[in-house]
This record gives sequence, structure tokens and C-alpha cells, in this order.
Amino acid sequence: MSRLDSFIRRLKAQKALLEDIAGRLGDLEGPVLELGLGNGRTYDHLREILPDREIFVFDRDLNCHPSCIPDADHMIFGEIHDTLAFCGPRIGSQAALIHADIGSGDPTTDLATSSWLSPLVSIHTRAGGYVLSGLALDLKDFKELDLPEGIRPGRYHIYRKVD
Ligand SMILES: C[S@@+](CC[C@H](N)C(=O)[O-])C[C@H]1O[C@@H](n2cnc3c(N)ncnc32)[C@H](O)[C@@H]1O
Repeated sequence: MSRLDSFIRRLKAQKALLEDIAGRLGDLEGPVLELGLGNGRTYDHLREILPDREIFVFDRDLNCHPSCIPDADHMIFGEIHDTLAFCGPRIGSQAALIHADIGSGDPTTDLATSSWLSPLVSIHTRAGGYVLSGLALDLKDFKELDLPEGIRPGRYHIYRKVD
């Protein structure tokens, strides 16, 4: 598959998955944590489909489209390894949804990322909350859910924290 086809499939999968999870959140309390602002595409989609949710965005850099810059209270700059660990007082409560799009494409780097990210994601997700991640995570109190039809297994992962 060409890289163009792969990119198109990834974006389609992200859109379908974000919409699927947004539909499941219902009245589950808590903010959304967007790990990896990047160009701002998935952040922009999240704020469009979840207009009443508070969304905190994490990135080490600001490289997004100018229309997608979060306000200062909701943009958390720095290494996610550090900022996610210490964001509790700022975000106020555990998240209803964490979306992590910080894969590097390098399998060794991604294993290392998954290893530090998994416990932090676990701490910051509320019971009954969801995690959507491009990287496979090792989450003890979570169940991995089936992907919606049409998305290749392994492309993305959806986890729900046990109530
Ligand atoms: C693939 S992009 C995210 C794309 C975004 N979902 C979109 O739709 O435009 C990944 C982003 O995560 C950030 N990132 C990756 N690892 C990080 C880390 N450990 N700490 C902080 N930011 C990180 C990168 O700077 C990059 O902007």
C-alpha cells in the first residue's frame, strides 16, 4: 500500500473512531485529554463533535493550523511523560476520554512510549472512561474493545476502564 493510501486510511479511521467514542460518552463526567496536537486535525474534530466537553491538549511544540490553537488554559506544553504525570491539579478530574496520537513509526521508540504512557493513562482515566490510542497500551483495569467495522485490527486501539 502506498504511503498516501495508508495516510488516507489512518485519517478515515481516526474520524470514525472519534465519532464512535463520542457517541458512547453520554453523560460520563470528565474532560477529554488530547495527547499530541500536531496539525490540530483530531483536536478540531473533537471540539466539533463534543462541543460541551472541556478538552486539554498536550504537546511539546505548537505546529498546528492557526485556527486550531487551544486557549492558554487548555494547552499543556512539554514532554507528555512529565506533563501528564503532573496535570492532575490543572485538569481537575479524571478524563472521560484520552486520545493518544503520539506514535513515531519506529517500533523501538513506540515500545518505550507505550511503557511509560500506559500507567499514566490508567491513572488519569475515570472508571467507565475510554482510551483511544494509535499505540497498543498495557492497561490492567481496562478491556480492549472491538474496532468499528472497516478499520484494520491493530491500526488503532480502544480501551474502556472497568467500572
Ligand atoms: C502525529 S502528531 C498528532 C497529529 C494530530 N492528532 C492531528 O490530527 O493533527 C503527534 C504530535 O505529538 C507530539 N508528541 C509526540 N510525542 C510527544 C511527547 N512525548 N511529548 C510531547 N509531545 C509529543 C508531537 O510533537 C506531534 O505534534
